Amino acid sequence: MPRLFIARKLSLDPRRVLGAEVDIDLWDSEMPPPRDELLSRVARADGLLALLTERVDQELLDAAPSLRVVANHAVGVDNVDVRACTARGVWVTNTPDAVTESTADLTWALILAVARRVGEGERLVRAGRFKAWAPTLLLGLELRGATLGIVGLGRIGEAVARRARGFGMHVVHSTQRGGVPLDELLAQSDVVTLHCPLTPATRHLIDARRLAQMKPGALLINTSRGPVVDEAALAAALESGHLGGAGLDVYENEPAVHPGLIGREDVVLLPHLGSGTHTTRALMATMALTDAARVLRGERPLHPVNEVR
Ligand code: DGY
Repeated sequence: MPRLFIARKLSLDPRRVLGAEVDIDLWDSEMPPPRDELLSRVARADGLLALLTERVDQELLDAAPSLRVVANHAVGVDNVDVRACTARGVWVTNTPDAVTESTADLTWALILAVARRVGEGERLVRAGRFKAWAPTLLLGLELRGATLGIVGLGRIGEAVARRARGFGMHVVHSTQRGGVPLDELLAQSDVVTLHCPLTPATRHLIDARRLAQMKPGALLINTSRGPVVDEAALAAALESGHLGGAGLDVYENEPAVHPGLIGREDVVLLPHLGSGTHTTRALMATMALTDAARVLRGERPLHPVNEVR
């Protein structure tokens, strides 16, 4: 019977999706397996259900001679060397669509939290420092009439744009294929939100130069991948007062957060919760398990990232 190594406790019981046709080896923890454990488990596996924390590279492929599928429990596949998998005849699959609405919702949670200083307000109340209503207390950005700049207009960027209508914001977007040039978007937007995948071309896309192009007082939101932003440069742009705030769900060296960001009042920090709803996480697990089982049965996966003969 083919064996699937599942590298984390999932939000549902994998047996509900896999039945008895696959031998399950489950890393039943909320923490990732240490690298040496991962390498020794994949040595005996025909399939791997990986999370964004599992680096699937040549070393892992060399340790896993029977591997036929890497089912990534994420839409982003920047943790996987897809080219190396293809060269070894290993399918890579992901979970598109599943994460779209939940990630767009969380993006708006961050936009609202930063624009209306929700984190600061909450901390003030909890600290017993709310003494009286005041016309000048914690004033923020009014979204109606402000401009939202969306960098990357894939499924999630589109879903963020749809919600912007309800808030009466003007929307501009920039992609590799169209929209306005990124420099223009940065110069026009009151809020910039990032929705591009992490690739060599987008690593540090938002660096010191690009941050300097943003409007004074503008807000930066990132629910895509941490390394799209140069975190040290972001901390410096906030410290200088050029930017008005930032909302981050992802980090350059996740789970570490740059020391220049962690103590700031004008920054809202979340622990990579974009897809974190019961519905989405169940769907992601179901999609990844289904595709792993399909490949292990000799069928084509439903959500392939590469093409394997
Ligand atoms: C993804 O799907 O890529 C998210 O970052 C994890 O949910």
